[in-house]
Amino acid sequence: MSTQLFYFSGTGNSLQMARDIALNLDNTELVSIPSVSAEFIDIKADTVGFLFPVYAWGVPRIIMDFVSRLKFKGDEYVFAIVTCGGQPAGTLPQLAGLLKGRGVELKAGFAVLQPSNYILWNEAPPEEKQVTMFVQKEERLPGILDVIRGRKTMPLEQGSALANFILGLIYKLSLKGFPTGDKSFWVDSERCNNCGQCVRLCPRANISLVDGRLQWCGNCEMCLSCIQWCPREAIQYKKKTIGRKRYHHPGVKISDLWKRD
Ligand SMILES: Cc1cc2nc3c(=O)[nH]c(=O)nc-3n(C[C@H](O)[C@H](O)[C@H](O)COP(=O)(O)O)c2cc1C
Repeated sequence: MSTQLFYFSGTGNSLQMARDIALNLDNTELVSIPSVSAEFIDIKADTVGFLFPVYAWGVPRIIMDFVSRLKFKGDEYVFAIVTCGGQPAGTLPQLAGLLKGRGVELKAGFAVLQPSNYILWNEAPPEEKQVTMFVQKEERLPGILDVIRGRKTMPLEQGSALANFILGLIYKLSLKGFPTGDKSFWVDSERCNNCGQCVRLCPRANISLVDGRLQWCGNCEMCLSCIQWCPREAIQYKKKTIGRKRYHHPGVKISDLWKRD
């Protein structure tokens, strides 16, 4: 069996999940979605996995764009693991629809709870709670691996029909606002030392350093990784993030997520 794991991750939860899966399967290639710049991508493996976070109860824009560029043979075993802070709603059925449009069926989809990185609502959960979530994730791994190794078909994990419907409407409205939502980022100039980490990190290459000032360019994924990873906590969003504890997965380094072309 050969496997390609395509991942997108703002703060490391989904990357760590992808690494956990890769460590336990033979002949597996890990592919960072923001780093794949080819227009169309031929799938080479016979098993394909997608790992990414839930955004606003649905599939992040970067995943939708990526899936639309994939060329499958048609007989691949396809699965997905989404990480989320509490409610995946209809994310996996939505992904299944996107994949169907590419000629393949999503055979299994798992929603794994991890610390929420949505700092616009809440700061990072306390460390003890994070550890509990990491342990619970470890406990889920054998079951997930058993499904993948056995190429089993499983019901997609999701919210209730009512939750999926209501949250699905909110998803559509929210997603439209994400690209230009970056107007509300600002930089505390007393803290920022122009290290450029956010520029390297941004999965959309949406941040540039012009004449010593950071600029967001209207194509934001809203992953918030610039806020979460800034070594000096210099990046803020409106007044919502001031004083809030930042989060990233403890097993992942900022350089693991740098965009590479
Ligand atoms: C813009 C945005 C929207 C989010 N929306 C949801 C959501 O609808 N449901 C949920 O459970 N978690 C949500 N989260 C939390 C992330 O899905 C969760 O923390 C995920 O594990 C982060 O993965 P990463 O570290 O790989 O980026 C959201 C996070 C962001 C940044």
